[in-house]
This record gives sequence, C-alpha cells and structure tokens, in this order.
Amino acid sequence: MQNHFDIKNDSQLTLYNTIMSTGSIPREFIQRLLSQVDIVDLIDGRIPLRKKSSNNYFACCPFHAEKSASFSVSHTKQFYYCFGCGAHGNAIDFLLQFDRLSFPEAIDALAKHAGIDVPRETISNTAHSSIDTQLCDVLTRIAKYYQTELRQSKTAIDYLKNRGISGPIAKEFCLGFAPSGWENVLQQFGTTLPLKHQLYEAGMLIKKDEGGYYDRFRERIMFPIHERRGRIIAFGGRILDKGDPKYLNSPETPIFQKGRELYGLYQVLNANRQIERIVLVEGYMDVIALFQYGITYAVATLGTATTAHHLHRLFRYTTDIIFCFDGDAAGRTAAWRALLTTLPSLRDEIQIRFMFLPEGEDPDSLIRKEGKDAFEQRIQTAVTLSSFFFQTLSAQADLTSVDGRARFVKLATEHLNQLPPGIFQQMMFEELAKKGRTEIISAQMPPQMKLQKARAPSSLRLAIILLIQQPQLAHCITEPLPPIDLPGFALFFELIETIKNNAAYTTGTILEYWRDRKEGKLLAKLALLEHMIPASGIESEFLGTLQRLKKLANKQQIDQLLSKAAKGELSQEEKYRLHQLIHDKK
Ligand code: UTP
Ligand code: MN
Repeated sequence: MQNHFDIKNDSQLTLYNTIMSTGSIPREFIQRLLSQVDIVDLIDGRIPLRKKSSNNYFACCPFHAEKSASFSVSHTKQFYYCFGCGAHGNAIDFLLQFDRLSFPEAIDALAKHAGIDVPRETISNTAHSSIDTQLCDVLTRIAKYYQTELRQSKTAIDYLKNRGISGPIAKEFCLGFAPSGWENVLQQFGTTLPLKHQLYEAGMLIKKDEGGYYDRFRERIMFPIHERRGRIIAFGGRILDKGDPKYLNSPETPIFQKGRELYGLYQVLNANRQIERIVLVEGYMDVIALFQYGITYAVATLGTATTAHHLHRLFRYTTDIIFCFDGDAAGRTAAWRALLTTLPSLRDEIQIRFMFLPEGEDPDSLIRKEGKDAFEQRIQTAVTLSSFFFQTLSAQADLTSVDGRARFVKLATEHLNQLPPGIFQQMMFEELAKKGRTEIISAQMPPQMKLQKARAPSSLRLAIILLIQQPQLAHCITEPLPPIDLPGFALFFELIETIKNNAAYTTGTILEYWRDRKEGKLLAKLALLEHMIPASGIESEFLGTLQRLKKLANKQQIDQLLSKAAKGELSQEEKYRLHQLIHDKK
C-alpha cells in the first residue's frame, strides 16, 4: 500500500503538520479550489486517461511499473485509486505524489490550473517567502559565478579530473570553484549595504570583529546544494589539498536547515520519474561518483546524522531505503543510531536496509574500483533492519544465560515499542519471542497489537462507507441522529456535519477535511472499498443502516434507563421517556 503519510501518534502528527504546514492558506479556499477543479482534467494533462464508463477513467499507474491499466480516476468521487499499488487521493494528493510538490506548492499549482489566486492569511508570511526567494536567487547567481571560475582554473579542473569526475557530471551537479581572495563574492555581489547584509544572511560572508565582512568560501571546490525544485540554498566547499576543515558548509540560514535537506535529491528526482529505492550515503563525492556510474538514486545527509525529517522527505518518493555505512566500528555505531531514528516512522510498507562497505572504502572509491553491477549487488544483499536490529542487540547480551536473555528482551521491547503498531511491529515481537525463547513478551505487546479480525461491515461501518463514497446521501438524513455509544460514531456524525455544511462535495473534497488527522487514512480506505451494492439499491441500503443505527441507539438508551430503574434512580421524566422508547420499539 503506497500511502505517503500514515500518522500513528500525536508526535508524528505534529511532525507531519510542521512538514506539511499550509503556509496559512485558508481552509475554505482549499475546499473551494477542490470543488472548482476536475481531477480528470488535471490527471489527463499529465498522463493520458482512457474512458471506461461515463464516470470512470483508466491508465497505467504512474506510481508503480505495470503493463495493464490498474489506475482509476473517478469523476464523481473526484478521487483516484490504483488497484495495483494502492496509491490514492484527491487532486491535491495527486500533485503531492506525481509532481512531488509540497502542500503549499500543490495548492499554488492547483490554483494556477483553475485560474484563481491563492489568498494568504498573513502578509508577513508572503513577505517572508519573498525574502527566501531573494536569498535563493543570489545564491543561484553566485553558483553561476563559481562555475565560470571553475572553467578558468586549471588547478581546480585538474583536481576534479584527478578524482575522476567527468565534465557532464560536474555540470549536472553545477560544481564550481571559489578562487582565492577574501572579497570576491563580497565585491561582486555585495555592492550595497543591503546586498551585503543579504549575502551575510545567506551564509556567504563572515563578519569581521572590527566591522565589515569577508568571503566564507575561498579556494575551494564548490558543491551547490539544491532544494527539491532546483533552487540553490547553500554550498559545501572542499579544500583542494589537505587542510582543515576538509569540507566547509554554509551555516544554517533561513533557507537552509541541515537536518532537513539531502544532497543530490534534486538530481535524483530529475533523473528518475519513478524511484524504486534510495541509497543514503555520507558524502558529496559519494553521491556524485555513484551518479556518474549510473546509480542515480543516492543522496547524502549534510555532515549530520539522519533525522526524522530526512526520512519523511525520502518516504515521499520511495518506501525502500538503503543506508550505506563504513564497515568499521564507527560505521556500525552510526548505523545503529540511524536505525533508532527510523523506528517511530516505520510504517508497514517501508523497507529499510543497511549496507556496510569494506574497511577503508567509501562509495566513491568502491564504485570506481568495482563498477555499477558489483555495487548494485551490494545493495541487493544489504541486511534488513530486522536482522541488523537483532544482530546488534544479541551482540550486547549473553543469550545463553537466563539473565542475558531477560536483558535482551527488555532492551528489544523498549525499542520495538517505538514502532508504530502494525504487522511489522507484530512480526518483530514474534521474532523477539523466538530469539529470547520466552513467552513473556506477548504480555508486553501494546494492546493495539491484538489485531482485530476483519468483520463483515457493521451497520455503522456500512453507513460510513456509503456516505463517503456518495456524500449526497447525507440529505436522506432528515432528523438528527440519536447519539450512539459505538467506536466510529463520532466520525460518522462529523462526516454528516461536514457534508451538510459543504455545498459542493465529492469524496475527494470531503477527505480533504481529514488530511491532517489520523482518521483520514481510514476514511480514504473506506472510500475505496468495493461494497458490492448495486447503484439502484444504495439509497435504500443507506436508509436501512440508519434504521438499524436508530434501533441500536434506542436499545442503548433503554438499557441505560433500565439499569437506572433497577437502582430506583429514575426521574419522572425518565420514566416517561423509557415508556416511550419501549413503545417505539414495538
Ligand atoms: P568524509 O571525510 O568521509 O569525506 O566526509 P568524503 O565524502 O569521502 O570526501 P572526499 O572523498 O575526501 O572528498 C563525509 C561527509 O561529511 C561531511 C561532508 O558532507 C562529507 O561529504 N564533512 C566532512 C563535513 O561537512 N566537513 C568536514 O570537514 C568533513
Ligand atoms: Mn571519499
């Protein structure tokens, strides 16, 4: 199932909201926008759709490789769904997944498609984004300048040649050279005081103690760092010979947060329409060398440990991630740290593997020695997260003694509790039970793990399914529903309210209200469920579910009043009510 955001708990939700911040675009606008675009048009502009029936269109799925068309787009639901890989969503989701935009970008693109302007709630926000744009613009111009300088420096060209970097690859990654001198950038780009300040803000200048500025990067090979859309947000600079620091990076700036950006991601996205897997390496040169040798799916963190933000960014493009580390002890420690970071984000469909290189090698040196095929062979045989997990923990405990096993189980359980509940967590606990040869674990499993069996849809579930698939049914509900004590009832109630308060509604529009909420995933699932009820029977089936729900509500009320009556606590009014309810029931 390819679902890009599966939020399992509050901290993930907060993280998600931070990542997906709508940049204060009013909610009502998003709803209006969705009701004004036709998802069929939008998708057809990108992948040609074939008409299946008056309301349904088909194509080969753009999100996984296939020969027969299992990607369907519903005009009435304003929703797409792939029967092959499970990708699904409304028009916004399509832009998030296919055009790989962020949420605010998707809204902008959709508004452009519909020919309307996006209102922003705060002016400061817009002002902010234009400052960011200015900073990116100046960095892009400086990168061009560095590229020109590279063409003129024999030393720099020789250095790159010696390292085996081809001309086209240097161009692809916009490699450049910062010449020697303390004021090159300062004088060319900082002609006025505000411009100087801007360069400082962008991390290109350093302030002198005695006042004034000087260039941060001097006599270094320059690696521009692109954001997802190709704007330059920072640089890394490598010293030509030996010296300290080997790499000098831009500091954190308003447009550059190391814990979020990945070097090479822009080039990887450009080179591949679909990304099956991504290899995470350590260095600039590693990304570039792999790319040159045809492994166009490697990215690097920028001299920092992998963060949850990095992972969430990668999960937008692939569910298969391979961490690549040195084979030495330091590499193993770094890998273990990366493993712990990934645990809370590991949804069932995600596959994480670890690849350890021979000592003394990095991907750059290794691919030049072995070539693409051998390197890909290493990727194929990378160890899975679960074997690395158990390997590492077993190495820390003596599994032959009872004490050792208990310690092992305790440690592992603590870590596994970090996993979101699901099949993967369950499998890991089962594996742990085997390894620890103990039964105590299942008692420690979180309660969600006792997985519920799939049941025939209850009345409430069926009512929700029908309603999310055909929101117009809400108008069959003429009198207010009595409250029912059932899990899911609050959701059903809210669904009805949302539909009733929303003039132009389709499945796709309604689901938008649940974008940032954990029930959204469930609703999307129900929106796709085949209920097998013929179109002609849907309305009466829906009315039937309402009847059954009302009966259930009555029964609950009667039971409640009767138990009160048994204690002699019924008021006159309640007695009357009970009498009526029993009468109605007949
Ligand atoms: P390495 O020291 O492994 O260098 O640092 P490398 O990538 O193999 O570089 P070459 O092949 O010697 O040119 C790995 C990564 O750590 C960060 C950089 O991102 C680098 O690519 N790093 C390293 C720094 O930020 N600063 C440093 O001084 C060193
Ligand atoms: Mn190296």
